[in-house]
Amino acid sequence: MKKIIVMSGKGGVGKSTVAVNLAFALAKKGYKVGLLDADIHGPSIPKLLGIDKVGGLEVEGDKLKPLEINGVKVISIGFFLPSKDTPVVWRGPMKHKFIEQITKDVSWGDLDFLVIDCPPGTGDEVISIAQLLDPEIAVIVTTPQTVALEDVTKAVNFAKKSNMKTFVIENMSGFRCPHCGKVVYIFGKGGGETLAKNYGVKFLGSIPLDEKVVESGERGNPFVREENETTKVFMEIVDKLLKEI
Ligand SMILES: Nc1ncnc2c1ncn2[C@@H]1O[C@H](COP(=O)(O)OP(=O)(O)OP(=O)(O)O)[C@@H](O)[C@H]1O
Ligand SMILES: [Mg+2]
Repeated sequence: MKKIIVMSGKGGVGKSTVAVNLAFALAKKGYKVGLLDADIHGPSIPKLLGIDKVGGLEVEGDKLKPLEINGVKVISIGFFLPSKDTPVVWRGPMKHKFIEQITKDVSWGDLDFLVIDCPPGTGDEVISIAQLLDPEIAVIVTTPQTVALEDVTKAVNFAKKSNMKTFVIENMSGFRCPHCGKVVYIFGKGGGETLAKNYGVKFLGSIPLDEKVVESGERGNPFVREENETTKVFMEIVDKLLKEI
């Protein structure tokens, strides 16, 4: 099994969107995939997959049974909270214990890939994941503007220092006006590729800013499950990643 950590130095750049769609894109290609939501304070995976589950998971033997959504096995702290608006007030050691449990005591079965969605930055959760799971692959998500890139650089350095094969995806790149067809680079252009070049890591491609991405997230259905221009671009990114790993 190959473990792919999806991370960024920055919040709100589309890590969870990339993680979910990467998991479903790999499943679409016939791989056996697990998706682990390691964002303890802001788990987005349940929402992005339209899962309502709270209050715990079934136990199979002495292991937790992940939920299975269209063939992808999913675990999120969101499933264990008493309600969706319960905040988690844990310090580092508690988070480490939780991550240890959801990595060791889950019946993932025989997987080809485990995709791990991380909170922003390189804090407790990401350090625990790196220590406990030792992921081979890091996918760093950034938006094109330099204010994001400065923070994202830290994630690239973290992944490289942890000996992960490191890749960059630029998200929220050009927006094609549905009226005139002109592409507008709302957050700038080319920052992700420059970042990858400067740090000697591979650039996988740019995902456009697309209202369908937001809308599919709101509906809880990963956009790669539908055919459109952004899905095409995303599948090319996944092909490029698969070729490299
Ligand atoms: N390419 C895109 N085009 C349009 N909207 C997008 C795109 N990618 C992500 N979004 C939207 O941006 C918002 C933030 O995305 P997401 O939750 O994936 O970011 P994140 O980096 O995981 O955030 P956090 O740091 O809070 O974990 C969501 O509403 C999502 O639908
Ligand atoms: Mg997220």
